[in-house]
Amino acid sequence: MTREVWNTRTGFILAAIGSAVGLGNIWRFSYIVYENGGGAFLIPYLIALFTAGIPLLILEFGLGSKFLGSAPIALKRAKKSFEWIGWWGVIASFIITTYYSVIVGWSFVYLVKAFTLGWGSDTGAFFNNELLHVSDSPWNLGSFSYPVLIGLLMTWLIVWLIEKKGVQAGIEKSSRIFMSLLWILLIVLVLRAITLEGSINGIEWYLKPDFSKLTDIRVWQAAYGQAFYSLGLGMAIMITYSSYLPKKSDIVNNAFIISLADGAFSFIMGFAVFGTLGYMAYAKGLGIEEVVAQSIGLVFVVLPEALNMLPGLKTLTAVAFFLCIVIAALSSLISLVEAFASAIMDKFEMKRSKAVDLTIGFGLLFSLIYATRAGIYWLDIIDHFINTYGLIIVGILETVAIGWIYGADKIREWANAYSDIRAGIWWDISIKMIIPAVLLYIVYKETRSNLASPYGGYDPAAIMVGAGIIVLGIIVSFFMSFIKEEVE
Ligand code: PFF
Repeated sequence: MTREVWNTRTGFILAAIGSAVGLGNIWRFSYIVYENGGGAFLIPYLIALFTAGIPLLILEFGLGSKFLGSAPIALKRAKKSFEWIGWWGVIASFIITTYYSVIVGWSFVYLVKAFTLGWGSDTGAFFNNELLHVSDSPWNLGSFSYPVLIGLLMTWLIVWLIEKKGVQAGIEKSSRIFMSLLWILLIVLVLRAITLEGSINGIEWYLKPDFSKLTDIRVWQAAYGQAFYSLGLGMAIMITYSSYLPKKSDIVNNAFIISLADGAFSFIMGFAVFGTLGYMAYAKGLGIEEVVAQSIGLVFVVLPEALNMLPGLKTLTAVAFFLCIVIAALSSLISLVEAFASAIMDKFEMKRSKAVDLTIGFGLLFSLIYATRAGIYWLDIIDHFINTYGLIIVGILETVAIGWIYGADKIREWANAYSDIRAGIWWDISIKMIIPAVLLYIVYKETRSNLASPYGGYDPAAIMVGAGIIVLGIIVSFFMSFIKEEVE
């Protein structure tokens, strides 16, 4: 089978930005900045981006474009025994797909509600009780939440329609539309936020630099963690997307453009988030620390309440906000699905259509767990483990395997061949030393804290299930690498 290719360089760049810009940019970045030294955090973040995020992105682009295969095949072509590393990235991506889709499902429900601010005045009660009917324990699954189920089915249907059409007519075309819309929505949201009374106080909290924090190692850990998470490194995605590049593509410059666009989106979005929180604090006569939140609580509880309180343009802002969430998350979800589908297309010489049906069929099946009343508990537990032991571990393995065993210089030469900017020896140092050292440190710290007390105060048995899924994923990765390919 001939491999699909991107139609244009811009198409590839937009698709990769679509993958990188996701929930992490909207609900994670600005809170991390706020917590870790405000404006001063931009220093460790930029350092993390230049010493680790961009170099690893260059490595993944180099692997995909040189070996013309999805993650397992690309790694296998570097060295046979590396194939399972690629599978672990692919399987981790798949696990993320199963709950990321549910969050897009919730967002669809909120997008519909946004037209009438239908979440009502008690936004916490709406989210937990009315919409999710959250049960009292992870073991009590109860029934499905039907609005969530409908949102989830819609999510999968859209992903299916786009994925079926393939790289050019599906992913590339949708990325062009999604990315244009996304940046317009971002501007609308920022303009609305900064014209609100009290917004300046929120922004001050977001960016007020506390340079003393720079001596705290946890701040640096947060910076590296966020840089990896946001670019979706170690998730097989960027290897897959770059495997559709035509010959003679610029690798290094593309990696810089994509990483900086991703960072810029996060930074600008922070003005919308903290501007709105600043207004809310002002309107309620509270300090920012009493309204600030991150992640699910920010998007589905705190910001809907802030939207209720806006002095004008409520519906427009609410619709723009949830449309922004839907688009950002959908384009990331598509890339996660493509990483898996592409791997089985390569391994079993399967047609796209069949691989997409299979991926989405199983994705939908497993995602149903998170549409039950205990779904949010499992989402929280599995998300916690997969980020440390999926993303970070694959990052370590990739840098050791390619940097030390295969030879960083070979990928560097490949990446430099048609690039405007050339990766120098600094790149080898980053791949061979900085990235593995930083990631190992993060895994060590995370493991220590996981062992000290069960994550999130959950029942240890539930934690064991979460950890067990990760172990199972690694076993399946090994198993996949022993299956013989249809065609070598
Ligand atoms: N990079 C996207 C985000 O920041 O939300 C999507 C994503 C990719 C999330 C990989 C998580 C992940 F592990």
